[in-house]
Amino acid sequence: MGNSPVGVIGGSGLYELLEDASYVDVSTPYGEPSDSLVRGAVGGREVVFLPRHGRGHRHPAHVINYRANMWALRSLGVRQVLGPCAVGSLRASLGPGTFVVPDQVVDRTSGRVSTYFDTGAVHVGFADPYCPDGRAAVLKTAGELDQAVVDGGTMVVINGPRFSTRAESVYYARQEWALINMTGLPEAALARELAMCYTSIALVTDLDAGLDEGSAVEQESVFRVFSENISRLRELVLRTVASLGAQEDCRCAHAHDGLEIPTDLF
Ligand code: ADE
Repeated sequence: MGNSPVGVIGGSGLYELLEDASYVDVSTPYGEPSDSLVRGAVGGREVVFLPRHGRGHRHPAHVINYRANMWALRSLGVRQVLGPCAVGSLRASLGPGTFVVPDQVVDRTSGRVSTYFDTGAVHVGFADPYCPDGRAAVLKTAGELDQAVVDGGTMVVINGPRFSTRAESVYYARQEWALINMTGLPEAALARELAMCYTSIALVTDLDAGLDEGSAVEQESVFRVFSENISRLRELVLRTVASLGAQEDCRCAHAHDGLEIPTDLF
């Protein structure tokens, strides 16, 4: 268990750095993941990388096969996942380029397949959606790298693919939610259903429409700000991978305790 690979789900720009990388195609009972997975190593720790949207951003957030993605990672032995992502900001104090390690999430998606448990009574706990050990590892690594990072914040996940109206965005900000994105769920919830650790690493790419009196968020600026910050994000992710301990003592590994998991699932 101590040497299980760390999964990273993110944009391109990460896999070039993996040492001795090799591609692996995985089929799952839930269909195909977003793309081939890339196996490599960082600082002596095995990594499995999966481009969330597939190469060339083929799969927009609302049609990603999240179940296949998480299943594919787990089937390659992954038990801890880092999920770097682009987010909009719902707070003026969190400007573009800010890193945030969210501690809560709100589901405003619709129509996404978001569970492995379609039969039986299996309700995993999700009160604390993110891995405490993973969050601590990211925060510690950021400190060592002298990278500013905000500890905590609630991320609201919308369905997309459109951005929010100003009224929606103002509403979200008034709930004191800090961040907005389109991919954070069901990714994190499915990780919990598979008893995997999951840690979100959010990079603010824009101020969402409720905060921005001007032209409001546009796709071009989201992609541009993300690519301007990709090398900082890459460094933070890869150094965190190398510093992560084993999952065995983490409470995420106990997500199935006391539950009757259908025997054909694992
Ligand atoms: N991803 C990046 N910026 C976003 C925004 N403003 N709204 C939703 N998803 C985003």
